[in-house]
Amino acid sequence: MNAKQAAAHKAVQYIKDGMIVGLGTGSTAYWAIQYLGEKVKQGMRITAIATSGETERLALECGIKVSEMDAVDHIDIDIDGADEIDRRLNLIKGGGGALLREKIVAAGSKTFIVIADGSKMVEMLGQFPLPVEIIPFGWQHTARHLALLGCQTTLRQKEAKPFITDNGNYILDCQFGPIPDPAVLQQQINNTPGVVENGLFVKMATRIVIGYDDGTAGEFS
Ligand code: A5P
Repeated sequence: MNAKQAAAHKAVQYIKDGMIVGLGTGSTAYWAIQYLGEKVKQGMRITAIATSGETERLALECGIKVSEMDAVDHIDIDIDGADEIDRRLNLIKGGGGALLREKIVAAGSKTFIVIADGSKMVEMLGQFPLPVEIIPFGWQHTARHLALLGCQTTLRQKEAKPFITDNGNYILDCQFGPIPDPAVLQQQINNTPGVVENGLFVKMATRIVIGYDDGTAGEFS
């Protein structure tokens, strides 16, 4: 079991029969979906809410029942990865481009468990370029306004074209450097016309589970 698998395996132990479960996106969440699929095959009944089209497809392949977000009034536990994590439970997410749905699902969850390998732990957020989802209309104007907040912006590309999110939007990867006050920065970004949502998840996480290469995992909350 590698570090990502160890974190995912430990987090999945929190899922109990009958729960409504948020499923994250990315290579660590992938393993949580696989382990949940095993539990479902052994008879556990859960309903899942997927944070991306890719995750929905994976969950269905694993035999997990997937529901629409608005078909449920709450989510019991959401399990998702992160690109950076600090000791105060703040995160940068969106490396996979799913940050908007990930944030909606996390906000709708009673418990939000973040799973990662140790490389994601940082003293201060900001080395990883902050993903910001923006609408395509006038995106260069939006990029210039964001740059005034003190970052270098790069329009995310896929196969030499703008990357398009599941919501039909673009992603700007914003290199801020150290972010001493994520709560203030997320408000400044979201006040910018054209911005849909940003990848700062400020004190949304309930618990962080970190996996190690020896197959063990630790946690803090
Ligand atoms: C997806 O948009 C992201 O928020 C992922 O959760 C994040 O990039 C972590 O992905 P990995 O588990 O693949 O590192």
